[in-house]
Amino acid sequence: MLRLKTNEDIKGIANSCALLSQLFDILKKEIRAGITTKYLDEVTQTFIYDNKAEPAFLGYMNYPAALCVSVNEEVIHGIPGKRVIKEGDIVSLDCGINYNGYFSDAALTIPIEPVTSEVSKLLQVTKECLERAIQAIRIDARIHDISRAVFNHAKAYGFGVVREYCGHGVGFSQHEDPQIPNYVSSGPNPRLKPGMVLAIEPMINLGTDAVYELDDGWTVVTADKKPSAHFEHTVAVTAEGPLVLTRW
Ligand code: MF3
Ligand code: CO
Repeated sequence: MLRLKTNEDIKGIANSCALLSQLFDILKKEIRAGITTKYLDEVTQTFIYDNKAEPAFLGYMNYPAALCVSVNEEVIHGIPGKRVIKEGDIVSLDCGINYNGYFSDAALTIPIEPVTSEVSKLLQVTKECLERAIQAIRIDARIHDISRAVFNHAKAYGFGVVREYCGHGVGFSQHEDPQIPNYVSSGPNPRLKPGMVLAIEPMINLGTDAVYELDDGWTVVTADKKPSAHFEHTVAVTAEGPLVLTRW
């Protein structure tokens, strides 16, 4: 069911997104070669609980952490642990917060410099995919206009586009209708209406489109082990156009 939000709801979601944006400011300062991925989850949990909020991912379908940390060929849902971040890695951080019953969702991929020029290009283009997706938002456009914007931009550079996971509605819970694929699917294609709040999240691979899930039941990796990038914002659809509620 697709639940439209009132202006008051959007204010509540914006507050949740503001907290999440503050968290990303902190994580960007903390991340460097030599730390474990688990450390970033500890920082995340401390920040969220200190602010009287709940980590939305922790316990979601039994997910064991507040943050997803996906390194290099890991696409999404990397579980924080003993892995040490090193120079040349790219690290995708994905988090959601429940603040006063309002849910936010955002992700970005951070390069631990120096990274190769092709990896820099992957990050830049994935970020552009998200920007173009947001620019495609206007009243009475459709979900597939968002999908097409992502897909066409990624494919213009010959990059892989993940099909198995997609963006989604967000706000009253972590995942709501509509689904927002990063390619033009044959699925539902509703028109955009004021009051929709969308988590748009291109997942773009340097190589193949194909991905699979590791035996831990969570971590999604590229089939060819080439790097993957992920950028996500929570965006409200308003009569005036898109309102980006998260930042990083
Ligand atoms: N990162 C996903 C999203 O952006 C949600 C992760 S669910 C979790 O929609 F269980 F892994 F936390
Ligand atoms: Co999401």
